Order: sequence, then structure tokens, then C-alpha cells
Amino acid sequence: MNTLLFNSTFEGLAPSSTLFINETVNRLWRQGEQVFHMGFGESRFDVQPRLKSALATHADKKSYLPARGLPELVSTVAFYYSKKLGLDFKSSQVLIGPGSKSLIYGLQMILDADVFLPSPSWVSYGPQAELLGNSYHYIRSSPDDNYRLDIEALDELVQTSDKPCKLLIINSPNNPTGEVMSAEFLEELAAYCRRNNIWVLSDEIYFEVCHGEIEHISIAKYYPEGTFVLGGLSKHLSIGGWRLGVAILPDSDQGKQIMQKMAVFASETWSGVSSPIQYAAIEAYSLHADVEQYVSDCRAIHGIRTRYIRAALDTLGIRCTSAQGGFYIAANFDGYQTSLLRLNIKTSADLAAYLLDKYRIASLPGSDFGLPENTQTLRLSTSYLDMETEFDPQRIFTLYKSGIDVKSLMSIDNHPATHAALNAFAQFMDTIRKT
Ligand SMILES: Cc1ncc(COP(=O)(O)O)c(C=O)c1O
Repeated sequence: MNTLLFNSTFEGLAPSSTLFINETVNRLWRQGEQVFHMGFGESRFDVQPRLKSALATHADKKSYLPARGLPELVSTVAFYYSKKLGLDFKSSQVLIGPGSKSLIYGLQMILDADVFLPSPSWVSYGPQAELLGNSYHYIRSSPDDNYRLDIEALDELVQTSDKPCKLLIINSPNNPTGEVMSAEFLEELAAYCRRNNIWVLSDEIYFEVCHGEIEHISIAKYYPEGTFVLGGLSKHLSIGGWRLGVAILPDSDQGKQIMQKMAVFASETWSGVSSPIQYAAIEAYSLHADVEQYVSDCRAIHGIRTRYIRAALDTLGIRCTSAQGGFYIAANFDGYQTSLLRLNIKTSADLAAYLLDKYRIASLPGSDFGLPENTQTLRLSTSYLDMETEFDPQRIFTLYKSGIDVKSLMSIDNHPATHAALNAFAQFMDTIRKT
């Protein structure tokens, strides 16, 4: 038998919880069970027709491309982000990778930094730091304030950090809260980071899915020299499986040094994103009117569904974040701690397991997002309900395009699973109120 030794950094790490819940739900579905899938945040719409045909057209692109990305795509991305964010990015600042996840990992790898993470924050930032053996700290927050990033709480952690290089990761619109950071707040945060010499990794992957209450602004507007902007095609174009992400680094000597290291990382690992995908992605970033319209329609549908579910949960007495972007709601049950304890629910993981077991509601526990275990918060995704099959997204999209009013769109006939899931939540709330 061969000697089997594992790298100790993997100890205690499990597969990403988002992918795990998706596999669990799919298994239950295969067994014929009804499950309300609020565990996985995947936008389900069809591939936009222009992109579909672009990918077919470029199927014969078979050669390796430069590790930093196809030059024509790189310059198209620079132009697109300049236009959309009202900034002036150069091609030399752009790097293409296999999803923004890998680019975030690369940036965490090449910097020898102390990492500061909002709580809650996306499931992979912390585990990536852990895989790399980097130190990371969650910044405390409160559900009373929609878990807004608290600069004072950040500063307390920064003051105790003895690493000269520091990295703050922010994410707006946010997964799991759906919160969008305001321009005033970003300006204040930028000034703080500049004063304290902190790099900012600004994960803006949901920026095209802002529901309209608050405009998306990039912190790069106020802190260009210290910000890495991250994005990609996965969310607003529903093509996570295409695996194409982008990073835009500062236009400075330091930015160039970071780019060189990232190019080494890219060339020694993934070599380059799949060639047909990169060619097709040029169409996604070319500001074509039909693609823009598609993104705008998908954004509107996500907004309608998220607002509907949020309002219904609110009526049931569940404290929800305001969910102004993306397709997530962080729902907090701390007000029901006594009843939850009577049901032997001590942690958010217990709560998520209970809801799956008794009510067939799949969700993710707040502890997966860096919240303290005994904070009874769940992340609920709004993108999957009634979009389970491959035909549902097109059905809902067509209904929306027919000019149907919101009430009819969200009726039980058109959104049966959503209504059933909300019913299950109502039953759960009845149980905990009686317990
Ligand atoms: C906040 C956030 N950042 C990054 C990603 C990674 O996206 P991708 O690697 O598909 O670009 C996700 C995907 O779930 C996400 O929710």
C-alpha cells in the first residue's frame, strides 16, 4: 500500500457548501422528493442567442491563447468596464481567468497579506485563505443594520494586525445579504483604506444584477490605486459554467507587479481560459443592444422575484436583509431563539438541517458565511424556485416579456414552487410560535 499523506492545510476543509447543497438537493430530487431549492444561487436563464451562436462559430478555435487572455477580449473588457463603471481602464490592467473564483484565489495567493472579511461574506473567501495558510479575520456586524460593513469594527482588527500588507475583500451587491454599498459609504471606506494602506479586492460579480434601489458604484472610483475589481459572466448572463472571470488591477507600478505575478500564476496553472469561450465572450462584453436588453430583462425578473419572496417572509415575521441586488436574502431568526432551542436548534447549521428535513426547504447556514454559529441566520437564494427544469426559465422569461403585471407573474399558477416554499415557511413559523 502506498504511503498517503495530505497537505495539512486541507484539514477541516469540506467541499464548498454551495456546491454541496446543490448536490444534496439534486440527489433528493432524483429520489422523487419535493425540495424547495433556496440553497444554490445560480441564475437559470437560457444562454443569450447571440452568445450561443458566437460559441458555435468559434468551436474551431483550438490553439492556446496568451495566459493573460485573448488580446481582443482584454481590450473589449477594458472598454466595457470603463463605460459601465464610469472609469478609465486600460487593457494592460485586465486579466482573464477561469471564473472570478480562481482569480480571487490567485490574488490571495500572490499577496502575503492579512485578510479582512465582512461577516457574512461569500463562502469561498475564507476557505481560500485557509487553503493558502493566510491569516484572515471576520469583521463583526449586526442584522439590525443589514450586516453593513462597520469601519470601526474593521479598524479594531486592523490595529491588531502586524502584517504590513493588508487586504480587505468587499462584495457589492452582496452574496449573501443582497446589500448594495452606497456611494457615500464607499467614499468613506476608500478614504479609510487609503489612510491605512489597505488593498481592496472589490468583488463586483453581481453589479449587473442591481435591482435599481441603489446604483452600483465601484470603490475603484474613489480608490483606483488600491482596488482590484473582480467580475465575470456567471451571474448577469447565467453562464457560470462557461467559467470566465475578469480581474482589473490598478494602473500603477504596483499594479503592474501584481499583474506579472498573476500572469505567472495563470501560466503555471490554468494556462488560459478555453479559446472558444474567450472568443464568444467578446460578444458578451461588446455592449450589443440585444445582450444589454437581455441582461436588463433578467435583472428585472430577479428583482421582482426577490422582492416578492422578501416581502412574504417579512409578513411572516422573518427579519430579512433589504436585498437590493443579486438573488439572495439573509433571513434572521434570532428573535425566536427560545423556541428554536426547544426544538434542539442551537446553530444556524441545525436550523438549515431542520428546515431541509421537516419542510424540504434547502438553504445555507450563516455560519458558512463567517457569521457566529449561534446567530440564527440563513442564506436564501431566490434564483432557483420555479426555475428547476430547463424549460421553466424560458417560460417565466416569456411571460415577463409579454408585459404581464407583477401580481399575475407571481401568482400561484405561474410560481407554484415559490408559493409552496412560502407556505412551508408559514408552517415553520407557526410551529416555532407554538413551541
Ligand atoms: C460573491 C461571489 N463571488 C464570486 C463568485 C464566483 O463566480 P465565478 O467563479 O463563476 O466567476 C460567486 C459565485 O457564486 C459569488 O457569489
